[in-house]
Amino acid sequence: MRVALGVTGGIAAYKAAELLRLLQDRGVDVQVIMTRSAREFVTPLTFAALSGHKVITEMFGDAQGEPNVESAIEHIAVAQSIEALVIAPATANVLAKMAQGIADDFLTTLCLATRAPVIVAPAMNVNMWEHAATQQNVETLRERGVKVLEPGEGYLACGMTGAGRLASIAAIAQAVFETLGLREDLQGETVLVTAGPTEEALDAVRVLSNRSSGRMGYALAEASRRRGARVILVSGPTRLDPPAAQVLERVRTTEELAQAVLRHLDEASLILMVAAVADFRPAQVQPRKIKRQDATPVLKLTPTQDILGEIVRRRRSEQIVVGFAAETDNVMENAAAKLRKKRLDLIVANDVTQEGAGFEADTNIVTLLFPDGRALPLEKMSKLDVANRVLDEVVKIRQAARRDDAQNDARARTAG
Ligand code: CTP
Repeated sequence: MRVALGVTGGIAAYKAAELLRLLQDRGVDVQVIMTRSAREFVTPLTFAALSGHKVITEMFGDAQGEPNVESAIEHIAVAQSIEALVIAPATANVLAKMAQGIADDFLTTLCLATRAPVIVAPAMNVNMWEHAATQQNVETLRERGVKVLEPGEGYLACGMTGAGRLASIAAIAQAVFETLGLREDLQGETVLVTAGPTEEALDAVRVLSNRSSGRMGYALAEASRRRGARVILVSGPTRLDPPAAQVLERVRTTEELAQAVLRHLDEASLILMVAAVADFRPAQVQPRKIKRQDATPVLKLTPTQDILGEIVRRRRSEQIVVGFAAETDNVMENAAAKLRKKRLDLIVANDVTQEGAGFEADTNIVTLLFPDGRALPLEKMSKLDVANRVLDEVVKIRQAARRDDAQNDARARTAG
């Protein structure tokens, strides 16, 4: 998800940095555009460092006046790539230009060039806000479908009191999330996700591992974060860029994964055990490389700790635990047996022999199995969509548990 954040010249310009962080926290990629007067208040460096992208400041060339062919058409590229444009703070001047369709810098040109929804958060002196010209411009913008967030009342930087304060950063972020269709239904949850394979050393250079890419676990971490959860990602070795979880623990062996998971278990309200954990490790690790001229080795394996088993032993009743079962034979029977044995709230069964499912694929074909015997087969879809469908079910499980708690409380009160 890509959003353009336009910053115009006002005392509140520095607050846009906080907005940028809130948007990024939910997985939104932010391209910042600053007007010339915004740069009198905050330097582009702040936003470049936070966003990880060059800040766009000029229509033609950079702020030093160096001509740049790319930038001459950049507004079109940005216009087409964004899912929303938010301008915060928006000055009276930019509102007037938008209302008139004036395009005399990058930001106002982008306003005309984009079809993405536009959100503006005005901030200015109370008299400027209440001026008939500004009010009429705001009205015009509203009629055209621009979402205008009313400024708040209070003490203004100019020393006056009244309407003109930038709406709260949380409210602006909320408006952007609504526009992007981001759900908030995991707000307040701490999601512990394990992802990827584990590796068990065989000798000084070799490992036993499996073909898990980490994609499914990363998709669940990403989807959880977008839905408002705090995410703790415990990841085995993968080649992927990890999603920006609040906590990222990189591990290699099953033992390291177990330790990381158990360390964070108490904080977690939702545990998604996606990692393809090695079930066995070599009974003995050779400290040196096993050489070809050595006798052909016979590997003796020893079982690793069943982490999910340990989680379930230690879990608190309000913790929701989801397991994954990658199977090749008797998929449903095996997965259902694991669901029962490990007393899970949900298991995601995955026939890894199917085309478009399993380890390396971007898509997956899974069936969700529940303790009451229900089976919900999903069609082939992207791993991010699978992640969201799993989370939809988790949200339902949470809601049902809350209803039960409320009923029990009511009964206890009546009995008391
Ligand atoms: N799992 C785990 N600890 C292990 C092995 C697996 O926590 N040592 C978890 C996996 O992350 C997954 C679930 O248990 O969520 C099922 O993993 P799987 O390997 O399919 O099940 P096992 O119980 O190990 O059974 P088997 O390998 O015999 O199919």
